[in-house]
Amino acid sequence: MLENKHILLIVGGGIAAFKSLDLVRRLRERGAQVTPVLTKAGSEFVTPLSLAALSASKIYQDLFNLTDEAEMGHIELSRAADLIVVAPATADLMAKMAGGHANDLASTLLLATDNRVLIAPSMNVRMWTHPATQRNLATLQDDGVLVVGPNEGDMACGEYGPGRMAEVPEIIASIDASLTDGPLSGKHVLVTSGPTHESIDPVRYIANRSSGAQGTAIAKALAALGADVTFVTGPADIAPPMDMTVVQVQTAQDMLEAVQAARPADAAVFAAAVADWHVANAGDSKIKKDGAGLPQLEFAENPDILATVSQMTKDRPKLVVGFAAETDDLIANATAKRLRKQCDWIVANDVSPETGIMGGSENAVTLISDQGAESWPRMTKDAVAATLAARIAEALA
Ligand code: CTP
Repeated sequence: MLENKHILLIVGGGIAAFKSLDLVRRLRERGAQVTPVLTKAGSEFVTPLSLAALSASKIYQDLFNLTDEAEMGHIELSRAADLIVVAPATADLMAKMAGGHANDLASTLLLATDNRVLIAPSMNVRMWTHPATQRNLATLQDDGVLVVGPNEGDMACGEYGPGRMAEVPEIIASIDASLTDGPLSGKHVLVTSGPTHESIDPVRYIANRSSGAQGTAIAKALAALGADVTFVTGPADIAPPMDMTVVQVQTAQDMLEAVQAARPADAAVFAAAVADWHVANAGDSKIKKDGAGLPQLEFAENPDILATVSQMTKDRPKLVVGFAAETDDLIANATAKRLRKQCDWIVANDVSPETGIMGGSENAVTLISDQGAESWPRMTKDAVAATLAARIAEALA
């Protein structure tokens, strides 16, 4: 897919630099030519020799190197590429880019180029959320720099939060999308995500443990392949993506209405953990401990959004993907669920507490279709998302 594309890969100084080695391999497998530029800090994490071996290319490190300049001047180096990828993009590299600095080879190349630039930020969570980095990010985006990630998760520094470099499949999907129109360009894909909140009274509600991580990752992965994504989300822990239409809802009923309003769509992915019931006798005012005994909640069934859309006779999306969160008999239950709801695919996952999947950063899924059950290896939710998005692109092609 990247046949004959020339990528200049700037490897900054971060622990995620080790992933850049795998990135080089995967890019070359896809036919790309990769020329690595290793910053001084980057060389503390990966060696020039490993980068040279994997890329089968000369490694560029110094701004003032007579031999390099004689072979290919740094201006030419930046212009010869179809795309410049900065992975990992550290807080310092982002600051240099935003400020227009040119005091080493990487920053000089980035300033001298008129090519597209894609950055994969990677840094400690506090550095990422610092107003200075967020200001630099906004400046870079205004300048047309493309950004993939960072993801939320456990970090090498022991903290948890956004700052972890995007996974290699996600970076490749973004590279694909930036070099081509993307396999999903022109396609409208609907994604539901997060939990729903069902009111008991104005201050209390019933919810579930869904963080919204998997749905958010899927929406981002689809957008990275060029899809026009409508993201309908319940109140999730994870912030919704910025570069798509986001509809925030509370209840299952609201979610169904938002989904109906967003149709037609070429594909729909129902990753939300929708509450099965709402409280039929929810109060308009707060329930008080007034001695009248324990509140008696009555439940009524919520609409099944996945089944409703799957069973539409008019304007049904060509591909409807549901999720099945199971604790027992994963494949049998999920297979039955696919047939009962009449969706095309079910992404089934085992959410038994010992798997650590619910609320965690990894997922082990089985894709169930009319072709049978296909178990994927355990991987991060972002990698599951990128893999699923690629499969959706194939199915819609
Ligand atoms: N779903 C939905 N609307 C609902 C309930 C579920 O759209 N009211 C969707 C979810 O987004 C998911 C799939 O249906 O894609 C499976 O949801 P799950 O809760 O695992 O299954 P249930 O239908 O609730 O079945 P059970 O509770 O028996 O496991």
